[in-house]
Amino acid sequence: MKSPIRPLLRQLHPNGLVEVVHLGLHRPGLIPLWFGETDLTTPEFIRKAAIAALNEGKTFYTWARGIPEFRQAIAAFHQRTLGVAIDMERVTVPGAAMLAIVTALQCVVETGDNVVIVAPVWPNIYQAAQVAGADVRLVRLDEDWNSGRWHLDLDKLFARCDARTKAIFISSPSNPTGWTASRAEQEAILEFARRRGIAIISDEVYGTLIYDGSTHAPSFLQIADENDPVFVINSFSKPWAMTGWRIGWLTHPRDLSDTMRILSPVANTGTTTFNQYGALAALGPEGDVFRESLRARCEANRAVVQDFIARQNRVRWMAPQGAFYGYLQFDGMTDSLALAKDLVVRANVGTAPGSAFSLGDPRDDAYLRICFARDAQGLAEGLKRIESVLTA
Ligand SMILES: Cc1ncc(COP(=O)(O)O)c(C=O)c1O
Repeated sequence: MKSPIRPLLRQLHPNGLVEVVHLGLHRPGLIPLWFGETDLTTPEFIRKAAIAALNEGKTFYTWARGIPEFRQAIAAFHQRTLGVAIDMERVTVPGAAMLAIVTALQCVVETGDNVVIVAPVWPNIYQAAQVAGADVRLVRLDEDWNSGRWHLDLDKLFARCDARTKAIFISSPSNPTGWTASRAEQEAILEFARRRGIAIISDEVYGTLIYDGSTHAPSFLQIADENDPVFVINSFSKPWAMTGWRIGWLTHPRDLSDTMRILSPVANTGTTTFNQYGALAALGPEGDVFRESLRARCEANRAVVQDFIARQNRVRWMAPQGAFYGYLQFDGMTDSLALAKDLVVRANVGTAPGSAFSLGDPRDDAYLRICFARDAQGLAEGLKRIESVLTA
């Protein structure tokens, strides 16, 4: 019988992390290093602001692109952290960053187009592009063990773009590698994209989770003109420990602000009203203090992982410049899903298989991703458990 369901949907597969989580989610005492979040509850001042809004009756529909005062505060945040003046007409709050990604893709992708994505990459990103109808082309960063840094080959990236390429998608600092695009790389990509009429979707949700003395990773917002087809994704989830709130924002070309008045309502009519007041509080000075404490915790935890790796002879990594993930390479491993499952069953520790971060590239099957944003003691215990399986 003829099916009305899009054939494309049948070609999508849950990524390996879903399988690992199913296996381990309800195991007592499991140390979860698999998801991208800290074990910290959202700070009290943020929770209180949302509760106060709820108690004041902020329970109605509101502006579908986000409450103006809130969007203004986001623009001020960009000014403070990046030193750029962003008109609040360029800021839309459709919901969480994931919805901002979907919205950006809706602005550029038509069936048959392709999107070129720098990989390894968080699977929800390439799956969102697939659902949007795009042919997804992953361009993998190269390992450069001599420099200890991931390397983006720009020639390779540009060679994957053709007349049907609508967007280059970059996540920097990257989930899972922590690779962070330099200003020079961003300038070269912007120059190429302008010349070829290609959009840039820049996922900067880890922009302020950056190490080694920086306060913000280089942002496309610092170099793009207001009407360049550049879409920048941001989120409250990571820097302010608000993953369950489902709130983030999209900074888009100025001339799309009227279009956003249509796209945001058809997605979710904006995001939860009282959450916006919580997020507004996060953008104040107390939020800066929290962000810095979380960033410092992650930087200290990165050193904990580094020490762990120094003790292993089967494991290595290229230390992340930003974000809060360790992408660990295991010598001789060819089935990351099997190892991640093994670690659940034998050591009660949750990790993400490298295979989830690419579309079948065997190189990623030598990797596991861990999130090092949780308390140092729990992290150390999780690493000890991984070690126990490696040395068994
Ligand atoms: C690179 C990247 N972008 C977007 C998101 C999603 O953020 P949100 O929770 O705001 O949807 C994540 C979450 O892990 C991520 O790693």
